[in-house]
Amino acid sequence: METHKHILAACAGLLLAAAALPAAAALRTLGAVEQVTTSRDSVTLSTAGGAKLRIGFVTPDVVRVRMNPRGDFDRDFSYAIEGAVPRADAVIADTDDQLELRSANGSRVAIRKRPEPAITVYDAAGRVVVADDPARPTAFDPVDGAIQTFKRREDYELYYGFGEKALPISRQQQYMAMWNTDTPDYAPGTDPLYQTIPFFIALDDGRSYGVFFDNTRRSWFDMGKTDPHRYGFGADGGELDYYVFTGGAERTPANVLRDYTALTGRGALPPLWALGYQQSRWSYMSQQRVMEIAHSFREKRIPADVIYLDIDHMDGFRVFTWNPKTFPQPRRMLGDLHAQGFHAVTIVDPGIKYDEGYPIYRDGRERSVYVRNADGSELHAKVWPGVCAFPDFTLPAAREWFGELYAAALDDGVDGFWNDMNEPATFTPDGFDKPETNHGPQKTFPLDAQHAGDGVAGPHARYHNVYGMQMARATFEGLRKLRPGQRPLVLTRAGYAGVQRYSAVWTGDNSANWPHLALTIPMLTNLSVSGVPFVGADVGGFMGDPSAELYTRWLQAAALTPFFRTHSTDTSAPREPWVFGAEYERINRAAIELRYRLLPYLYSLFAESEKSGLPPMRPLWFVYPGDAGASLVEDQYLVGGDLLVAPVVREGMVKRTVYFPKGDAWIDWWDATRHEGGTRVQIDAPLGRLPLFVRAGASIPTQPVVQHTGEMKSAPLTITVAAGADGSSRFFQDAGDGYGYRKGQSRTIVVTQDETGVRLDIPRNRGWQRIEAVEFVGIGAAPALVRIDGKPARDVRFDAQTRRLRVALPNEGVKRIELLR
Ligand code: NOJ
Repeated sequence: METHKHILAACAGLLLAAAALPAAAALRTLGAVEQVTTSRDSVTLSTAGGAKLRIGFVTPDVVRVRMNPRGDFDRDFSYAIEGAVPRADAVIADTDDQLELRSANGSRVAIRKRPEPAITVYDAAGRVVVADDPARPTAFDPVDGAIQTFKRREDYELYYGFGEKALPISRQQQYMAMWNTDTPDYAPGTDPLYQTIPFFIALDDGRSYGVFFDNTRRSWFDMGKTDPHRYGFGADGGELDYYVFTGGAERTPANVLRDYTALTGRGALPPLWALGYQQSRWSYMSQQRVMEIAHSFREKRIPADVIYLDIDHMDGFRVFTWNPKTFPQPRRMLGDLHAQGFHAVTIVDPGIKYDEGYPIYRDGRERSVYVRNADGSELHAKVWPGVCAFPDFTLPAAREWFGELYAAALDDGVDGFWNDMNEPATFTPDGFDKPETNHGPQKTFPLDAQHAGDGVAGPHARYHNVYGMQMARATFEGLRKLRPGQRPLVLTRAGYAGVQRYSAVWTGDNSANWPHLALTIPMLTNLSVSGVPFVGADVGGFMGDPSAELYTRWLQAAALTPFFRTHSTDTSAPREPWVFGAEYERINRAAIELRYRLLPYLYSLFAESEKSGLPPMRPLWFVYPGDAGASLVEDQYLVGGDLLVAPVVREGMVKRTVYFPKGDAWIDWWDATRHEGGTRVQIDAPLGRLPLFVRAGASIPTQPVVQHTGEMKSAPLTITVAAGADGSSRFFQDAGDGYGYRKGQSRTIVVTQDETGVRLDIPRNRGWQRIEAVEFVGIGAAPALVRIDGKPARDVRFDAQTRRLRVALPNEGVKRIELLR
C-alpha cells in the first residue's frame, strides 16, 4: 500500500523554511506484521516492508514505541534522556491478528497485525488514549528516510506544550516545525523559534495524556490542521521513537508531566540569588557604567540581585576575555558588585574567533574539538567576532574542554553564565554582520557539517537541534566540576527536550509591544509544562523601546514568573526601572518588591519542582483540567497551586476580567475580597496594581522587602494564611546555595488550617529564616479571642481595611493558633 506525501506538501506553504522540505516523493507504509518476538517487557515485530517495531512499557503508565524502517534499530541513545530508558514488565498475549500488552496497573497496548500495524493505547479503565489512524498508516520515505505517523483525533481535544512557540495557549489546528532557529523580533505566529521540545500534553473532557517524539532531526507536528480528525508527527529521518504517557488512573496533566520529567530529567534547584530581579542590556559598555547601574539600584532602594554583561565586555568578542580598555579591572568590579550584594552573569557564545593569536582558538584546534565540514576541514562561519570555529558539543572531549574554560571567569568572580546564539546561529557568509533573515538556511551550519554525536558521527541535520542543549550541558557540567559546592546558573537560548537538567531558558529576542507582552503567558506556561521550570521573557521586549506604561505593565506581569530579567537590544533607550520618571519608578519598585516579598514561596516551589517536575509557573488548565472554563485562559497564570496572577496586558486598561477556576475560592491579595471559583469578575487594575489572588485554604511564606537575597537570612518570615477553606500547605527552607539540602540540611514547614485556626509543624531551626508571625487574610472581623497553644495571644493586630489579622509568634515552638469568634 502506498500513500503520498500530500500532507507534508499541504503544510509546506505554512512553513517559512519550506525550502528545507524535500520534494514530494512516494511514501511507503510498513506492511503487515510477519514476525513477532516477545520478551518480559516488549514485543519486537518485523513487517512485510522490512521495518522493525518495538513496543513496550517504560513504567506501567508509559508506553514506548520504536519503528525503524530499515529493519534494525539504531543505537538506543537519547540526548533527552540520561542513562538507559527503564522497562516495565508486561503480560503479553499474541493471537492470530492482534498482540496485546498489559502493564501491572492495567494500561494496555493493542497492536493489530494487518494489513498495516495499528497501535492503540488504552488506560486502565479501558478508554482509548492514543490510536493510530488506519486511514494514514505509519509511513516512511525510502529515498530520504523521512518518517511519519498519524493518530485519531477527538473533536474537542486541546494540545499544550511543544516547548517554545509564539502561538495561542492551545495548539489544536496548528502545524509546527521543530528546528532551532535564531528569530530576532519574531512576530506572533512565527515558527519555529529557538527551542525544540517535541512533547505535548493533550486534554479532552478533563482527561490528559502526553506524547514525546524523541527525534533530534527537523520534525513537525500537525495537530489537526490538515484534517481535524487526525493529528500526526514526523521527521526528516531517524527512527520513529515516541512515548505515550497515559496519565495514570487519574489521567491528570500533572501525572503526565511527572512521568515525562522522570524520563527527561528535572530542573535542579537554582541558587536563591538567581530568583532575584536581574538587570541586563546589550550592553553595559564599561566597568564604570556597570557600577553606576549597581549604585543606582541601591541608592534608589529598588531590589536587585544580578547584573548581566553582554558581548561588549569581551575583547573583540573573543569568549572568555575582557575588553582591556572598557573593563580594565574586572576583578575589582566584580568584588565591588559582590560587596553590594550583586551577582554577575556574563554571556558566552559558541563561536570562537578564528585567530591564530587567540590561545583559546589554537588550543581548541590542537585538541580537534571543532565542528568539521563534510570534507573534513574545520567549519568556519561568521558571528560577532567575524570568522569563527565552533566546538562540537556532541563530542565529550569538546564539552569537557569548554567546561574548563569557565575556570578563569569564576576566578575573576563571575557568578553565572549565559549561553546565546547556540541554535547555532551564524551570519550570512556574504558579509552581514547582524542576523537579518530569520529562517534562511544560511543562518546555521550546513546540513552536512560533521558532528561526533557522542559516538555516532553524523551530519548537522541530525544534531542541529541538540547543539544548544549540549553547549548548556558543557557549561553546567564544567561549573559543577569547578565549583562543586555551588549551584550553577546557566541560561540558554536554544535547547532540546531535557534542557531543564542544565539550564534556565529565556524566550530570545521578543519585541517591545503589547501583543508580545500578552504572548509571554502562553509562551512561558507552555514551556513550563514542557518540563522546563526556570523560564522568562525579556522584560519590556528586547527589540525596540517600550512606552513607560508598557514597561511598567510588563514588569508587573513578569514579577512572579520564574526568571525575572529586564533586557534590551544595543540600540534601545536606557531601560532601568527608574528611567521613566518618578511615578513609574515608584510603581516599578513596588512590582519588584512584591517579587521579593514572595520569594520564599517561589523558592519553595523550585524545591518542589526538583522532586516532582511540576513547574512553578502553571497555566490554569494544568491545575484545573476538569474546568472547561480554564482550558483556554491565556492572560492569567498560577504560581504553584496557590497564587493566581492576572496581569494587565493591554494598553490603557485599568480594569480587567479575571476568571476564577472552579473548585476553589480566591482571596484578593490587596483588599481580601473573596471570589468564588467558576466566576468571571471585573477587577480594578489601576497602573499601580497587579491583580493577584491567593487560594482560600492556602498558606504562603512571605518576607519583608529586602534589597537582595543576601539580606534574606536575617529577614523574618510571616506565614500568610488565606482564610475561608480548610487546607494544608508546606514550604521549604535551606541555605539558598550548595547541595546541603540533598543531605538533609533543610526543613519543611507544614501549616494546616481549618475553621478554628491553624496547626503549625515547624521543625528545628538550623539557621534558616525565622518565622515570626502568622497573618490571616480574608477574615471578616477581628476574632473575640486568639489563643496560642491554649493561652491568650499577646500580640494580635487586625487591620479592618485589608482584612488581615496578624498574630505574632512568641517562638517557633508554637503548635496551634485558635481564632475564637
Ligand atoms: C542575541 C540575544 O538573543 C540577545 O539577548 C543578546 O543581547 C544579543 N544576542 C547580543 O549578545
